[in-house]
Amino acid sequence: MILGLETSCDETAAALVTEAGEIRANVVSSQAELHARYGGVVPEVASRRHLELVAPVVREALGEAGATLEDVETVAVTQGPGLVGALLVGVSAAKALAWARGLPLAPVDHLHGHVASLFLEPDPVEPPFLCLLASGGHTLLLDVQDHAGYTVLGTSIDDAAGEAFDKGARLPGLGYPGGREIDRLAADGDPEAFSFPVARLDGLDFSFSGVKTALLYAVREKPDAWLEAARPDLAASYQAAVVGQLTAKLERALGGGEWRAVALGGGVAANSVLRDRTAAICEERELRLKLVSRELCTDNAAMIASAARYVEPLPYPGYLGLDAYASSA
Ligand code: KG4
Ligand code: ZN
Repeated sequence: MILGLETSCDETAAALVTEAGEIRANVVSSQAELHARYGGVVPEVASRRHLELVAPVVREALGEAGATLEDVETVAVTQGPGLVGALLVGVSAAKALAWARGLPLAPVDHLHGHVASLFLEPDPVEPPFLCLLASGGHTLLLDVQDHAGYTVLGTSIDDAAGEAFDKGARLPGLGYPGGREIDRLAADGDPEAFSFPVARLDGLDFSFSGVKTALLYAVREKPDAWLEAARPDLAASYQAAVVGQLTAKLERALGGGEWRAVALGGGVAANSVLRDRTAAICEERELRLKLVSRELCTDNAAMIASAARYVEPLPYPGYLGLDAYASSA
């Protein structure tokens, strides 16, 4: 069994996954409430909380799986990208666990982890496929040719899609984290109530800074009572603009190649409208669509353990100097 650890941002997570990709335990402790009052993740606060949570979360995962450390054959951990102080807590914990038992250690790239969530049982998708990976830190269109890697076809030139949701939600006071809240509120709103411009970029790159500014202009200097009443419509219209750009680029990528399957990954892949729109696009074109449960879209350690199946692990004891990295570039 593989023990996976994930601490790149504000989720402390541990999971146990078999070599065949079956999840035996998937424990995620979110710090969202801790950071809510700041309207965003505070790196130092996140690192300190990871320190407190990492051992209990591993213990809980082992308990959930009915396993002990004796059953673990490989330890996997997110090495980057992410908040470096937060990552180092996971990397240090993973080193300690692996070293104490003489086990190999697999360093995993967080984005490869999101892609590898699509390879978990049941019903994994087999490469090649087109993947839209949208999270708080990244917006990527990927050509996934095999389990171990991918080619980037397009990326955001400014904010990530999840960041657009989170920053956008702050403007009309929709709370934090914003994506889920906008998704929830939008269900009662009219997506055509407000017209927010969608950036028209050539190629497969994305841009979300314009739509955020348009929302800012729509809500500034508005009285509280107006805002209160307009929130569902604002959420629905804003969501339509962000998702509209994601699906437009997805369709453009589909038009530019021969594809058999499409997959969504990353926290934004939990979005109801994105899931529905992508399903309609795939149905129209008779393509297979791979979606994972919302719990596997947002950060978790099962995806890290899954990715470790396709990574060359570092043999004991050569990994004590392993470092974390903040960004992939
Ligand atoms: O993948 P993830 O958990 O963490 C990163 O690697 O960044 O993604 C978190 C992002 C946040 O920006 C959050 O607002 C967004 O995913 N998100 C959503 C939804 N649930 C989470 N965005 C839109 N609709 C949702 N239902
Ligand atoms: Zn993530």
